[in-house]
Amino acid sequence: MADQRVVELFDEFMEMVKDFIVRHRLQYEDYAAVTRYLVRVSEAGEWPLWMDNFLEATVDTTSYGEGPWTPSAIEGPYYKPGAPLLSRQPYTLPMRPDEAGDKMLFKASVRNPAGEPLPAAVIDVWHATDKGLYSFIDAGMPDDFILRARVPVDEDGTTAFRSIRPAPYEIPKNGPTGDLLNSVLGRHTWRPAHLHFRITAEGYKPLVTQLYFEGDPYLDSDCAEGVKQGLIIPLSKTDVDGDSWTHGEFTFVLQPQ
Ligand SMILES: [Fe+2]
Repeated sequence: MADQRVVELFDEFMEMVKDFIVRHRLQYEDYAAVTRYLVRVSEAGEWPLWMDNFLEATVDTTSYGEGPWTPSAIEGPYYKPGAPLLSRQPYTLPMRPDEAGDKMLFKASVRNPAGEPLPAAVIDVWHATDKGLYSFIDAGMPDDFILRARVPVDEDGTTAFRSIRPAPYEIPKNGPTGDLLNSVLGRHTWRPAHLHFRITAEGYKPLVTQLYFEGDPYLDSDCAEGVKQGLIIPLSKTDVDGDSWTHGEFTFVLQPQ
């Protein structure tokens, strides 16, 4: 039996597209160009990338809702479930022995809207290298959980982990998604540097979000439109074992279930 909601959504979507064709008097060559482009995206296997780049930020706004909790942000296509749960202090994200980049100490606190700590929370964090590459995704990176881990939270709802500072990166620019952004629309394919988080605690909605860094050149022109004001943090310097490390911190507030 037909799913009535799907039928209604499909019909409305098609009406919208047909109105658009009529309003702009699109011709057969336009129709052929669009068809060719859609086939290119399919053949390149870029539909997940295309959807996340152009539409996920809007789905994010209709999904998590706004309230006295941390704003959500797009998950993007590079999350990998099953990252190792760290157990040895000081918590350090898995990295290659020669991992390049500014050493970074990140402190986090996880709370509910009343300000109470959530000690049972787990912070699943993933981010790019200082060349803007992701493990499992970039062909030159190992298929291993590099710069990806699940970090437990202490009794007082706080935790800290060590890693390196990620760099801004370009989404794949040589395929049809990058082509559209760069050559057709005159935008660019850069995302500002960011940390990805997926934070879970029993009784609370999983929070998928990202943190960006003040001063990043792409904060105002993120190709994926994922930046939100409440998610931009300052970075400072702190002393770790006698060295000067980059330091960031954030209090995550979860939405009750
Ligand atoms: Fe990312």
